[in-house]
Amino acid sequence: MVYAAHGAPIEEHVRLEDPKSGLSGIIAIHSTALGPGAGGCRFWRYPDDEAVAVDAFRLAEGMSYKNALAGLPFGGAKAVLRMPEGPFDRDALFRAFGRAVRALDGRYVTAEDVGTRVRDMEVIAEETRHVAGRTPRAGVAGGDPSPWTALGVFEAMVVGARHALGADLSELTVAVQGTGSVGGFLCRMLADAGARLVLADVDPSRRDRLVAIHGAKVVDVADIARVEADIFAPCALGGVLDAACVEAMRARLICGAANNQLATPEVAAMLVDRGITYVPDYAANAGGIINVSAEYLGEGPLDVEARVLQIGPRVGRILEQAKREGVSPAQVADRMAQELISSAAQLAA
Ligand code: NAI
Repeated sequence: MVYAAHGAPIEEHVRLEDPKSGLSGIIAIHSTALGPGAGGCRFWRYPDDEAVAVDAFRLAEGMSYKNALAGLPFGGAKAVLRMPEGPFDRDALFRAFGRAVRALDGRYVTAEDVGTRVRDMEVIAEETRHVAGRTPRAGVAGGDPSPWTALGVFEAMVVGARHALGADLSELTVAVQGTGSVGGFLCRMLADAGARLVLADVDPSRRDRLVAIHGAKVVDVADIARVEADIFAPCALGGVLDAACVEAMRARLICGAANNQLATPEVAAMLVDRGITYVPDYAANAGGIINVSAEYLGEGPLDVEARVLQIGPRVGRILEQAKREGVSPAQVADRMAQELISSAAQLAA
């Protein structure tokens, strides 16, 4: 039996090795209690097979929680592929991956993640229909999920700001870490809502574009988590909230798009102790998978919008319950997701 981060067993995993195309990695299906395991395909450099497996299991479990909480008819899964060190034929590699997805017979549905793009999904689609994140077709959801992810984070932040700070975004300063696809859309929404922005990105060109439009302040990447701001929005990397970061933070609310923001589960309690409200990452950033799932089910953009707009009220319920119980919102969200998954599993048994 293989165990993921919270100790929950992984339902199924498949190691992928195809020396001819360079395909090497793992598909991890954490749970199919609520439906096929859905989660993107990450294509990244890893030092060894162990690192691939750790990332795949952790991410697959996170997808189970995210999909359950968003009310999607999907379980959680993830594919993690090792980028070959030498030259390789990208199409051949993703075709081989597509065959591996096909062999799972619909128990895994793939899409983009870090390092993969729409074109890769089109190549995978030559081998299997269990893929989303393809070129959008008229009337059907699809295409870049980032605007939907940003909208969900924005809605979560509006609710979080009222709950934790008793204020509207027009009265607040938001420090955004990472101004890429999601961060960029989020900054535009925040600026439209009248929020003041402080930005940091390791790539100055992405950041400066936004500064020119919105007159935002820029700080060094090392300072963004401890800058004078009301809200911290991590939209770059996972694991950013560690003990040192929390200790130095001046913001009173954390709400962003990055996956797996807590470096360790213990950080959630530290945030409670410091009086910092944390909006659980997978509750806020579900807009992208909502879009992917609608595409797979043949639904349209209006269905996506309706589901994404439920993120704010859901975050409100999580924050209220956490306050009543005096625990971290992360704990409440985990419990809600676990209950949804286990009742579905019981019904199926
Ligand atoms: P992206 O790659 O377009 O943007 C990330 C940005 O962060 C880039 O501009 C990069 O230069 C910057 N960055 C990297 N390291 C940094 C650092 N140390 N400090 C400051 N900036 C740094 O990625 P995207 O799509 O915007 O995703 C952002 C985060 O949200 C990722 O963690 C991703 O896993 C997560 N996410 C994205 C979804 C989507 O729909 N794109 C859906 C759910 C989660």
